[in-house]
Amino acid sequence: METHIAAVNSIKAYEQAATLLQDGQLVAFPTETVYGLGAIATNAKAVAAIFEAKGRPSDNPLIVHIGTKQAVEQYCTNVSTLAKQCMASFWPGPLTLVMQAKPNTLATNVTAGLSTVGVRMPDHPVALQLLQTVNAPVAAPSANRSGKPSPTRASHVYDDLVGRIPLILDGGRTGIGLESTVLDVTQHPPVILRPGGVTKEMLEQVIGEVKEAKLTDAPEAPRAPGMKYTHYAPNAPVYLIEESTEKITAALTELAHERVALIAPASCTVQAPIRISLGESADIAVNLYDALRECDKTDATIILVTATTTEGVGTAIMNRLEKAAGGRWYKTTV
Ligand code: TXA
Ligand code: MG
Repeated sequence: METHIAAVNSIKAYEQAATLLQDGQLVAFPTETVYGLGAIATNAKAVAAIFEAKGRPSDNPLIVHIGTKQAVEQYCTNVSTLAKQCMASFWPGPLTLVMQAKPNTLATNVTAGLSTVGVRMPDHPVALQLLQTVNAPVAAPSANRSGKPSPTRASHVYDDLVGRIPLILDGGRTGIGLESTVLDVTQHPPVILRPGGVTKEMLEQVIGEVKEAKLTDAPEAPRAPGMKYTHYAPNAPVYLIEESTEKITAALTELAHERVALIAPASCTVQAPIRISLGESADIAVNLYDALRECDKTDATIILVTATTTEGVGTAIMNRLEKAAGGRWYKTTV
């Protein structure tokens, strides 16, 4: 299959994308978080093709994207006041709400057979235009091969899925760079299954107490990515390290026999055999997956990445880094 990358400067691109989707095919498109790999969420065969193209385990449910807030009522039941408050405050935006699915509306493989469904209304003009043109719910996980960092550029999608999907809508770089916050509002208090751009503090200002799921809470079927599977990982092993010149310098000396790639913010001035920058501290989220993917274009044999604060969106950044590193920290002798 040939994979076409389409610019989104004409209505034709959306019509082509909508026609492919209605025909049961897959289309990758930008959202404000990361690129998604879309299929019509009521078409089980099309949804199965997502799992196939990504190499994704079939027990990991997909997020359903909708173009209006009202569409929630078509696919969910028992939509609580609290859920509606979340929608009013954060939609369109990087918040996925896990709610009770309305039986016999979506394909059962979207939810991996669960009775709940994750739904979000993305805040990106291309995603919204596509949803309006196709006029159907679109199931879309991140458009990467399973286990790889999520794509923040059309070229990342192409690198991972060339030959597997017919079309990528190119909307440039995504703005947030990390996937949406997944909030389970079927539990009381609601539980953050995956931290993201909408932080715990932001949620608590609107709905009061919110809990954070621990990785060790992993249930039989994973409630959020990475609770069971490795994620966001480049080819070479990744280790976290404190952003300390002394520690990094010691690590580089100890690892002199390796090709070390050091991923760190611009503020870190240590030289390394391969140096990949995360930019200014405010831009770490947006640069993170790009940086992890850069490693695969080098001959690095080991990757050191500096830890960040866990304040605000730092919670989401550290969550992804912990997963990319499989929880490993590089221990220096100093
Ligand atoms: O920002 C995002 O959320 C991106 C863009 C494309 O929208 N999508 C995304 O999808 O990150 P994905 O499939 O890579 O991650 C969605 C995760 C699932 O792996 C799953 O664990 C969780 O959300 N999820 C979906 N439905 C769920 C459900 N019914 N119960 C619990 N967790 C669910
Ligand atoms: Mg993903």
